[in-house]
Amino acid sequence: MNILEIQDLTKKFGDFIAVDDMSLSISEGEIFGFLGSNGAGKSTTINMITGLLRKNKGSIKILGQEASKHGEFIKKHIGLVPQELAIYEDLSAYENVKFFAGLYGLRGQELEKRTVEALEFVGLADKRKSYPKTFSGGMKRRLNIACAIAHQPKLIIMDEPTVGIDPQSRQYILASVRKLNEMGCTIIYTSHYMEEVEEICTRIAIIDHGKIIAEGTKEQLKSLITDSKVIFIEVKSPDTVDVQAIHGIQGVANVKVVENTVQIHSELGVNNLNQIIAYFINHHIEIRSLDEKEPNLETVFLTLTGRNLRDS
Ligand SMILES: Nc1ncnc2c1ncn2[C@@H]1O[C@H](COP(=O)(O)OP(=O)(O)OP(=O)(O)O)[C@@H](O)[C@H]1O
Ligand SMILES: [Mg+2]
Repeated sequence: MNILEIQDLTKKFGDFIAVDDMSLSISEGEIFGFLGSNGAGKSTTINMITGLLRKNKGSIKILGQEASKHGEFIKKHIGLVPQELAIYEDLSAYENVKFFAGLYGLRGQELEKRTVEALEFVGLADKRKSYPKTFSGGMKRRLNIACAIAHQPKLIIMDEPTVGIDPQSRQYILASVRKLNEMGCTIIYTSHYMEEVEEICTRIAIIDHGKIIAEGTKEQLKSLITDSKVIFIEVKSPDTVDVQAIHGIQGVANVKVVENTVQIHSELGVNNLNQIIAYFINHHIEIRSLDEKEPNLETVFLTLTGRNLRDS
């Protein structure tokens, strides 16, 4: 059964189209990844799913119910871990979780019990009386998660839950996502970190300029570009590189300069490395290092959008 069905969803801010006729279905039990660079439209999509933003057009069905018509039902079944931390500094960890679980509709003994369980789940049970100002970034992120899961929603939406935290907390959060999924939750997981999405997601949508430009398992996405590779050439003086000239070399599909590295997207099976290197030598551009990569989600993204995930 589809837990979420989006049809022709559109959001405009003035004349700017942030989400552009998007359609998407997510089955129960998936960990579904939204992968996209800054401003792609991920949070806007999520905010419409959770009812925080009004859509201009289209339909959003959750467990078969039109979201805009069944606010209370949706509130019960969705938990949102927002991109910006939503916790109160002057409430203790326990009070924070209890407050949000209350908003989601829990009351009385059940509220108390689920609050404790959620804090245990994110490893903050012994910190329940502490205030967020004494927490590390990772602990705040975990508290943010506890606030979204205490009411045991069927669909948990996590909007960049691992931004700006240490590797240990990141691993903890990724393990929690898996555990929640094993317990029966469907997860929408948003990130710019390709490695995370690749590690945990069952399916992935690559979002760019408000549109889904590719969707599938990581294997399916990689198979879209099995005929290409990316050559990374780090140089001393990137300003002197003539992108058009490299573009003219046989087999080269795309060239981009990111900081000191020239990224050359090239067809597999075309042996053009000598010509590429010759360009740099002939133009007296010093090569510092050279690396060649097989397709991964980062190169899929680069091929489909012409940009890197994290520099656009
Ligand atoms: N309230 C708003 N008013 C005007 N423009 C907005 C508003 N909210 C978002 N936008 C614009 O819509 C686009 C999509 O933004 P959104 O926050 O959905 O991107 P995102 O994919 O979540 O990016 P990030 O990875 O940086 O979180 C951006 O260009 C953003 O500037
Ligand atoms: Mg966002």
